[in-house]
Amino acid sequence: MCGIVAYVGDKNAYPILINGLKRLEYRGYDSAGVALINSGALNVYKCQGKVSDLEAHTDGKDKAGTIGIGHTRWATHGPPNDVNAHPHRSSSGDLVLIHNGIIENYAPLKEELKHRGHTFKSDTDTEVLVNLIDDVQRTEGVDLAEAVRLALESVVGAYAIVVLDRKEPDVMVAARKSSPLVIGIGENGEHFLASDATPIVEHTKNVVYMDDGDLAIIDRHKGLKIRNIKNQEKTPFIHELEMHLEALEKGGYDHFMLKEIFEQPRSIHDSMRGRLNLAKGEVVMGGIKDYEQKFVNAKRIIIVGCGTSWHAGLVGEYLFEEIARIPVEVEYASEFRYRNPIIGEDDIVIAISQSGETADTLAAIELAKSRGATIFGVCNVVGSSIARVTHAGAYTHAGPEIGVASTKAFTAQVTVLTLLALAIGQKKGTLTGSRFYRLLNELEAIPAKVEKLLKNEAQIKYIADIYKDASNALYLGRGFTFPVALEGALKLKEISYIHAEGYPAAEMKHGPIALIDEEMPVFVIATKGASYEKVVSNIQEVKARKGKIIAIVTEGDTVVKGLADHVIEIPATEDPLVPLLSVVPLQLISYHIAVMRGCNVDQPRNLAKSVTVE
Ligand code: F6R
Repeated sequence: MCGIVAYVGDKNAYPILINGLKRLEYRGYDSAGVALINSGALNVYKCQGKVSDLEAHTDGKDKAGTIGIGHTRWATHGPPNDVNAHPHRSSSGDLVLIHNGIIENYAPLKEELKHRGHTFKSDTDTEVLVNLIDDVQRTEGVDLAEAVRLALESVVGAYAIVVLDRKEPDVMVAARKSSPLVIGIGENGEHFLASDATPIVEHTKNVVYMDDGDLAIIDRHKGLKIRNIKNQEKTPFIHELEMHLEALEKGGYDHFMLKEIFEQPRSIHDSMRGRLNLAKGEVVMGGIKDYEQKFVNAKRIIIVGCGTSWHAGLVGEYLFEEIARIPVEVEYASEFRYRNPIIGEDDIVIAISQSGETADTLAAIELAKSRGATIFGVCNVVGSSIARVTHAGAYTHAGPEIGVASTKAFTAQVTVLTLLALAIGQKKGTLTGSRFYRLLNELEAIPAKVEKLLKNEAQIKYIADIYKDASNALYLGRGFTFPVALEGALKLKEISYIHAEGYPAAEMKHGPIALIDEEMPVFVIATKGASYEKVVSNIQEVKARKGKIIAIVTEGDTVVKGLADHVIEIPATEDPLVPLLSVVPLQLISYHIAVMRGCNVDQPRNLAKSVTVE
């Protein structure tokens, strides 16, 4: 949430900041701003709206300067408007700051600062922080870096900040606590700073991931220094980025979401690469090497996540229980962290997160860790906070996901969970050899099957056109496809703003059936498998009440075809793998409905990609 970008070097900062903000816009897009220092002048430009609005706003203005900061906002304190947009300036006019996170004790700090003569223009906690740093700098007579460090001692909350001081025009100071910051080390002493690596990769592949409690001081002449919370100097550890620039472009698609849906044959394949070895008949998960016995002996697995990642966790529950015979509980990270859960040293907690930065998931991990559990992360973003605080883990390797609605990250998460369940199941001997090989073979065939079902796009678009004006929709699934029903409903509501609910198909009789009439589209996953006949009965119940059935069926199905208003065929596969196929038409149908309704698919209202506040 909120995108931060900063630059110091010998180039003009403005185009670098604007380009960086465009890359980060998926993190927040209600307002944007930049600040530049040039020849003793500190120029701040900001406005409500998108980065393109900011560009229009700065047209014809002085945008010179080789040091600057930029921000794209997802509002927490105060509505999205010009005044609340970042950067925020201290009332003295000397300091300017951008911030991602929440300062929880901003109200008492603000009162105190008012008494000390500071004035405020905005409703934000950020303006309080910049004045606090300014106040400390003046009262203690210290430089910017020390003022930031001292000021942060009085702050409660989460932050990633970058601060500039008109009086020290060659210095940029950044700090992080529970919100990510990455430093890019370019050529000729230039440095970049950003919320993630996407604005950095086109300039340099050498990055330093800041840790919680780090303070980075970047001096145009003296280079980068990192100090920790105790003011001790740390040696920055330089990583090489594996990200490629093409992954951040739309590549000819109208939207990132569509591109990411169509990337799934490759992303699922990449999630399996080097892990599934058909020739040897084994699954190798490097991430569990040191914890294999713990998994094999585990009495219980707890899976935590939010949103789509939580849905992947629900698929994980079915997978681990069926394949590895380990009891699983799936928890919303936000509930888990606040309800004093019973966790012990024998528990394994699997934390799932695309971004690896979700505040609630991070807090759930910290809690479980403090109680002695072993934490395994399933993350997409390499070097992210969750990837770094877990004991072990497996990256999903889906590549950057820019569309706010998660698509390829979900199928990659489910792929990794399937591999994990298979690896443990094989070690535990909970699967017969033949079933294990069948699942392995089928898993390897999934990318080609996704490729095949994506060819149905024209039919899916046709169905989308029929239901684009619906006000409500129901999604039903059973067993492995119940979480897919939840995910299908989430996709529709978040990008098209149509109210949608997912239910286990049989649960419909216990309430939601009251909603069904001739206006109600009901999406049913009715693939051949253990629950097939039961789901067919549920379809009959909907039809008897004149609901419109759009069924996802196995190729060649004739029974459901005779009942449903529309059927979308997907290739046959093993039950545990059906989520990887059945979710794809639901993603596509949501996408097309949203486009037909004129919605901003990649940046739906009120949402942001990386939810770094609780
Ligand atoms: C839905 C969506 C969100 C995220 C959720 C968790 O399409 O993207 O529900 O799944 O905010 O985010 P991560 O996976 O980054 O922890």
